Amino acid sequence: MDTTVFERYESEVRSYCRTFPVVFDYAKGSIVRSSDGKDYLDFFNGAGALNYGHNNDFIKGRLLDYLQSDAIVHSLDMFTVAKAEFIEYLEEHIIAPRGLDYKVQFPGPTGTNAVEAALKLARKVTGRSNIFALNGCFHGMTLGSLALTCDLEKRAGAGVALHDVTHIPAPYQFGEDLALKFITDTLDDCHSGIEKPAAIVIETVQAEGGIHVFSNRYLQGIRNICTKYEILMVIDDIQVGCGRTGSFFSFERAGVIPDIEILSKSISGYGLPFAIDLIKPEFDIWKPAEHNGTFRGNQLAMVAGKAALELVVSGAIEDGVHERETLVETFLTKHIKPLVPDAEIRGIGLIWGIDVHDGAKAKAICDRCFEKGLIIERAGRKDAVVKIMPSLVIPKDQLTQGLEIIAEAIKETL
Ligand SMILES: Cc1ncc(COP(=O)(O)O)c(C=O)c1O
Repeated sequence: MDTTVFERYESEVRSYCRTFPVVFDYAKGSIVRSSDGKDYLDFFNGAGALNYGHNNDFIKGRLLDYLQSDAIVHSLDMFTVAKAEFIEYLEEHIIAPRGLDYKVQFPGPTGTNAVEAALKLARKVTGRSNIFALNGCFHGMTLGSLALTCDLEKRAGAGVALHDVTHIPAPYQFGEDLALKFITDTLDDCHSGIEKPAAIVIETVQAEGGIHVFSNRYLQGIRNICTKYEILMVIDDIQVGCGRTGSFFSFERAGVIPDIEILSKSISGYGLPFAIDLIKPEFDIWKPAEHNGTFRGNQLAMVAGKAALELVVSGAIEDGVHERETLVETFLTKHIKPLVPDAEIRGIGLIWGIDVHDGAKAKAICDRCFEKGLIIERAGRKDAVVKIMPSLVIPKDQLTQGLEIIAEAIKETL
């Protein structure tokens, strides 16, 4: 099938299809097939929405049973059996065993809507309007979250002033000690010109920002500042939560507990739209219907989401990530780094970046990968980072095959 219908009728705003200009039709595990029968290995993974692979059989079985039974599919946010089962499973098998205590909010079913909810709530709790966000961050494309997002081209699309946010240095810019000192000095200085924020919103790994992994020490520093100055710590785990970094919540490695934790993308396990805010009970001061929306009760996503959590609880996901992490890191160090000695390789779990410091070079590599049957995206400033983000359950031979394609593409293009 050619792409004429899209070019003729679909809005110019279309995005990823420009990088991967074929018509996709079928997907299973880590393989995606185009309508003309070519197979592609998927190292992009629905931008992180498909941690358990395309059309995961276990999750699909639950969805098919649910649909077959004519159980409720649309419910606004009314009480349903599917919602009760999702909440109970999440609380009893994920939240409680980690010694956490959270209430669950179902915002609209996108990451950006969950960020909007967190911003509103932090502002409501503290009575402050300012928010601290980090240079290089990405938190979404609606006005509130876009005010945090740093990409200047994306911000320009707003067409209005994006305000009530102060961008603070990321630890990789001037070192983590100075990054933390900047915050405390600003908060202590009555002439800083910067209002105390309601929240510090942070990703533990800046993903769109170019795969920058923040150290445990830095994350603990942020937690301590938030506690000392009575600021809410909000972790945006939309892209790197749900096992991506090796633990279900990405903050677990640092031993910090955010006041609000945001999950979306892979929380439904099947690529269905879904998002949740996990809120410490003392901050759950919403009035009824204060963050409403028609699609906050996506029952299919809840059914699939519970099945995905069962996979996580079985231990198979986290163990699998650790094994595959070693495979990726070893390959990148042994076989990729020597090809591009100036490149920086960064990552954790199953999110890795090859920073070639040049957008055109990164584009050439990714384009060649696509020609060779690998779907892979770029991230970071100038899109100079080749971003490796496969499914968490990708068979190891396919993982190696994808990495070999990247190595070949580098050899052929640089
Ligand atoms: C860290 C982070 N926050 C928020 C978002 C926005 O999520 P959505 O695209 O579902 O609105 C994304 C999307 O890539 C993300 O990576």
